[in-house]
Amino acid sequence: MNPRNLTERVSLLGAQDFDRRSFDELIPLPDGTSYNAYLVKGSEKTALIDAVDPKKIGVLQWQLQGVERIDYLVVQHVEQDHSGSVPWVLERYPQVQVLCSPKAKSMLIDHLHIDPERIKTVEDGETISLGDRTLEFLHAPWVHWPETMLTYLQQEKILFTCDLFGSHIASTQVFATDKGRVYDAAKRYYAEIMMPFRPMITKHLKRLESYEIEMIAPSHGQIYDEPGFIIDAYRHWVLDEPRNVVLLPYASMHGSTQVMVDRLITALVDRGIEVAPFNLTVTDIGKLAEALVEAKAVLFGTPTVLVGPHPSVVSAAYLIAALRPKLKYAGVIGSYGWGGKAPETIKSLTTSLKLEWLDPVMVKGLPREEDLSRVDSLAEELARMMKGE
Ligand code: FEO
Repeated sequence: MNPRNLTERVSLLGAQDFDRRSFDELIPLPDGTSYNAYLVKGSEKTALIDAVDPKKIGVLQWQLQGVERIDYLVVQHVEQDHSGSVPWVLERYPQVQVLCSPKAKSMLIDHLHIDPERIKTVEDGETISLGDRTLEFLHAPWVHWPETMLTYLQQEKILFTCDLFGSHIASTQVFATDKGRVYDAAKRYYAEIMMPFRPMITKHLKRLESYEIEMIAPSHGQIYDEPGFIIDAYRHWVLDEPRNVVLLPYASMHGSTQVMVDRLITALVDRGIEVAPFNLTVTDIGKLAEALVEAKAVLFGTPTVLVGPHPSVVSAAYLIAALRPKLKYAGVIGSYGWGGKAPETIKSLTTSLKLEWLDPVMVKGLPREEDLSRVDSLAEELARMMKGE
């Protein structure tokens, strides 16, 4: 697409990647994604903020055809979906100087072999004049890497945020007009990418309170011309207490664990607890991550493979621990043939979350009614704990 004007001096460049279906070979992208770059023209100098994934370099080349001079290339984040085409920009514009945080400088050298002479580091709060426009840089570590920074265009009151506040959506629409769709996509993106960094995001949100912001321009997804929409959503996801929702990731090989899962769902719902079940053999990991944002408890359902949990449950437990959600309570239900230590293994994978564990309910073979009564008791105890009774 051609550049789209956001204001008289600021235009949206970059590429929509409608076909991409995976990020980091891990995160499913059902709606594709975008790599947004922004061109800011001051009366004296021009800055390009972020670049694009190398696979979309042709789009950026097309968009910059008529731009004879760029003075600054602001690299807010070194991950290659934004910086992978920086070498081309430096070659195309021999006078351009990279502006980035001190941490980003060494990462640009390591990951992209950028000539250090082309890089000028900027301190937290430092400003750069483009003539009648001023860019202010805010170091914002861990959204998404330790080197990340945000850029505030003072006159237009636009905050460029790279990964922060982003969403994986490819679209021809510039602004986040379909609020329901964008909310879901941004929540999923938050869960997959930002949730492990809640303490840092809390600080960044606090700091942004002192800035007047009329537009938030992330480097993935659509632009927020009503910034309160996404800031309020982040406040809720980051700061609010979790809801009475149980995440229930499970697998069942011969149906025994499935019988227990079905009974557990019924028992929890009867007690006023919402359940988000995910059969891990067919689940979309992004949806599981999204459900984690507000869940207060996780119950794993697993058959026993050899002596441990099903590998898909191991993978889910590892992922859940890595995402550092607000979970408080946990438990395990499942089945076995002749023994095993599935609950202990799952617990060991999630020790970093410091969860309060309920006694596991493991059943030999196909559950009998007395086994399912134990599932009811587990649901009763968990519901009581979640409600604070
Ligand atoms: Fe969009 Fe962390 O890169």
